[in-house]
Amino acid sequence: MQVSREKDCRETRRAVCPGSFDPITNGHLDIIQRASRLYDVVHVAVLINKTKQGLFTVEERIEMIEEVSAPYGNVVVESHHGLLVDFCRDRGIPAIVKGLRAVSDFDYELQMAQMNHGLSGVETLFVPTSPTWSFLSSSLVKEVAAYGGDVSHLVPELVHSRLTARLAERR
Ligand code: PNS
Repeated sequence: MQVSREKDCRETRRAVCPGSFDPITNGHLDIIQRASRLYDVVHVAVLINKTKQGLFTVEERIEMIEEVSAPYGNVVVESHHGLLVDFCRDRGIPAIVKGLRAVSDFDYELQMAQMNHGLSGVETLFVPTSPTWSFLSSSLVKEVAAYGGDVSHLVPELVHSRLTARLAERR
C-alpha cells in the first residue's frame, strides 16, 4: 500500500487539450484553465492541418497560447502534424480533454473519442463549456472581427490586438 502510494506521487498526471486554435478564444482558455486544475501537466496540441490556410501561423498561435496560459504554471504548448493519438503515445498522455459547447458538438466528438480510444486506448474527457462561451468559436470570432464587429470580450486582450492587426494587414 505504502509503495503504491509513493508510486502514485511520483507519477505525473498528463492530459492534452487539442485544437486548431486559430486563434485561441476565451472558451478554449476556460477549458485549458480547468484542465490545468485537474492534471499536473496540460499539453496544448496545436494540430497542423495543411489543407486549411489559417489566419495565424502555427508559431503565432503557439506564442499566443503560451502567453495567455502562462499564469496557470503547468501548460506546455506544442504543434503536431498527424494523429492526435500519436502525440499522446509519444508523451505518455492517457487523456484528451475536450470542451462540449452544445449537444450539436456531441455527435462528432463522440465519434472522435471512440476512434481515438479504439486506436490507442486513450480516454476522452468532456468538460461542459461555461455557458458564457457556449456560442463561441474561432471561426465566428474571425468572421465578426473581419466585418468590424467588437470581439474584444471574446478573446484574451493579446489575441484581440493581434487579430485587429492581422485583419488590418489583409484589408
Ligand atoms: O479546433 P478544432 O479544429 O475543432 O480541432 C479538431 C482537432 C484538431 C482536435 C481534430 O481534428 C484532431 O484531433 N485532429 C488531429 C488528427 C487526428 O487525430 N484525426 C483523427 C481524429 S479521430
